[in-house]
Amino acid sequence: MEGHGFDDSSVRLVSAFMAMEPSDSLISHARVCGGGLITEQVQEFIWDHCLSKAAGLYAPYLKNFLKKLIIEVELEHGCVLDNLYELYAHYMTSIKDNSLVQRDAKIRKRISFLFPDGYSQLQSCLHSRVLVFPLQCSLNMLEGDTGCSIWPSSLFLSELILSYPELFSNKSCFEIGSGVGLVGLCLAHVKASKVILSDGDLSTLANMKTNLELNHLNVELEKPERNKNLNMVKCMHLPWESASESQLQDVMPDIVLGADVIYDPVCLPHLVRVIGILLSHKKSYSCRQVASCEGAGSSNKYENGELHYTNQPNFEDLVDVSAVAGTVINNHGSGGDGPKEAPLAYIAGVVRNVETFNHFLSLAYQAKLDIVDLTDSLKPVNLLPYMHSYNQASIRLLRITFNP
Ligand SMILES: C[S@@+](CC[C@H](N)C(=O)[O-])C[C@H]1O[C@@H](n2cnc3c(N)ncnc32)[C@H](O)[C@@H]1O
Repeated sequence: MEGHGFDDSSVRLVSAFMAMEPSDSLISHARVCGGGLITEQVQEFIWDHCLSKAAGLYAPYLKNFLKKLIIEVELEHGCVLDNLYELYAHYMTSIKDNSLVQRDAKIRKRISFLFPDGYSQLQSCLHSRVLVFPLQCSLNMLEGDTGCSIWPSSLFLSELILSYPELFSNKSCFEIGSGVGLVGLCLAHVKASKVILSDGDLSTLANMKTNLELNHLNVELEKPERNKNLNMVKCMHLPWESASESQLQDVMPDIVLGADVIYDPVCLPHLVRVIGILLSHKKSYSCRQVASCEGAGSSNKYENGELHYTNQPNFEDLVDVSAVAGTVINNHGSGGDGPKEAPLAYIAGVVRNVETFNHFLSLAYQAKLDIVDLTDSLKPVNLLPYMHSYNQASIRLLRITFNP
């Protein structure tokens, strides 16, 4: 923090502030910057690089953070900057009661991916060590059928895409249940050849389009061919229940993605049907090099540090896999001119309810979908080290292929 320069700790503090991380988390970042104390220098940094640049940020959030900051400095008998007292007094008079704040209000966050030194693979597609996406979200997690909030698995898939860009660049990618659209922004960033985002909820879709526009991506609803050269992301209204086979077969993606889509037991049969159709289209493909597919019908087994489900799987198998050290999968993403590989899906999720998750696995098995748990073998780089509210380790990553 010497001379207000940006070292790692100050970048984390600013990133956490812009992502609207909880006040306690901001305070702990501030302490790291000040070597344990929230010094005047740290307060000046917060003023210059956070609060004075926070125009448009959600005022009750700023008020709560200021209150916490002032209390913490006073508790350690430090000197609080006048600017901070004055701004807090302003919020005290302008925001009378937090409980009256509209719960359906939309807020703007900025999600920053911080790239560590020495990741030549990552930096080859980056001009800077920080990649920032502004995103409009809802305060209410349930708005837009849950799709207007950022869920942890989309942070995970975003880290995965940015960590292994070669798996996605030049690939046609289709996301189901896209929510705010962060995964699509990352796919466009690593130059997927085509990005189609979808959601079953219309208000979520409208919010997603706002986010694509905020990030200067062209949104196209129909006829993408006309603007082939533009950095294009297509949005599609796709409720799984009513998605027709022909509608899905037209898409023919190389890669299907889904983040936090396994949670509603009622939707699962429809979700599995959609994934099945998307993965079973008949583009001219070579055989995918997934050795375990050959042994379908035998027992579940570990290969190359991955768990392959060839019998009807359940969650206990998922738990077991965490004991097995994985190796990174590198059998796809060639991007060359050779025969294309069969489509595959990356589905990331937090297992909130074991029964629901087992039900998904069993439906997938019945639909001839092979599932490989990649959680331990394809780990993304931690690009969100400032985000204490997000725990990469809580997410499971499944790779799904169709095995006729
Ligand atoms: C928990 S949110 C996850 C959103 C986003 N993928 C993320 O991780 O931030 C689930 C998403 O799936 C969508 N969804 C839920 N049920 C659906 C259905 N039956 N058909 C299509 N989309 C659905 C919701 O609208 C929402 O956007």
